[in-house]
Amino acid sequence: MPFSRSLTLYSPAKINIFLKIVDKRPDGYHNLSSLFQAIDLCDILHISLSSQDRDTLTCNDPSIPSDSTNLVLKAVELFRRKTGLMFFVKIDLEKYIPSQAGLGGGSSNAATTLWALNELLDQRISLEQMAEWSEEIGSDIPFFFSQGTALCTRKGENVKNICLNKNCQPLWIVKPSLGLSTPLVYKSLNLSNLPFYDLERYLHCCIRGEWSCFNDLEIPAFTLMPSLARLKNKLLLAGFHTVLMSGSGSAFFCLGEGKLPDDEELYMKQVKVLNRERNIWYTP
Ligand code: C5P
Repeated sequence: MPFSRSLTLYSPAKINIFLKIVDKRPDGYHNLSSLFQAIDLCDILHISLSSQDRDTLTCNDPSIPSDSTNLVLKAVELFRRKTGLMFFVKIDLEKYIPSQAGLGGGSSNAATTLWALNELLDQRISLEQMAEWSEEIGSDIPFFFSQGTALCTRKGENVKNICLNKNCQPLWIVKPSLGLSTPLVYKSLNLSNLPFYDLERYLHCCIRGEWSCFNDLEIPAFTLMPSLARLKNKLLLAGFHTVLMSGSGSAFFCLGEGKLPDDEELYMKQVKVLNRERNIWYTP
């Protein structure tokens, strides 16, 4: 085993340009239809094969668990189980994507880990195969094996690459200090009064480069955290023409020429969409 090899990879966040909840499934999950877009807000993953007989994970953010509950180590275990290979890794994760934000940070880290292991261990496992494996540990992980823009359906694991015309509006991520738990947001969702959206029309507007945005998880998230609805209004009043929660929150993405509030409690970062070539991992 070539113990000396190591890799450093970017692990990007995502936003959901639109997110429609279709129905609840017998397994407790929800079918959805969502246009996912990768963005250049990235964590950085340093990974090498280890001569020790266990995996080690370190992280610059002490609030991130570094035990087997972390999706990075779940991805390592998944790769071992699916390939039957015996190896151990040393991983250092530089975290920049806020947690509990709906930005897919943990899912992206898991996808990046699988991509890295395929390279480090000289395997030729297809992206489609790794995407299929990864849905066992998280519904949002398969998206990251797309080329950065995809329509995701079923639990999120059915991924179809989409090509969008350029949207030239400035794009900002804004997140309050409090985060939201994904299972709790889904639990607070009332399926009986979701609005109707013409998804074909929404998708075609996005393809033309005019983002049409909505998120069925905003109402349950606002019910759990009423301050989020107030933050959305504040950002709209500040001049952004679109302010939408990403995934299950609590981060928003804002489009347009707004004036950001002067509030130290808020995380704010200007970002760009990020796409990749088929055989190259994401590079901002
Ligand atoms: O798949 P993942 O572990 O990321 O999902 C976290 C939680 O989000 C699930 O336990 C479930 O409560 C909810 N979820 C859902 N329907 C989906 C995706 C996630 O209900 N399509």
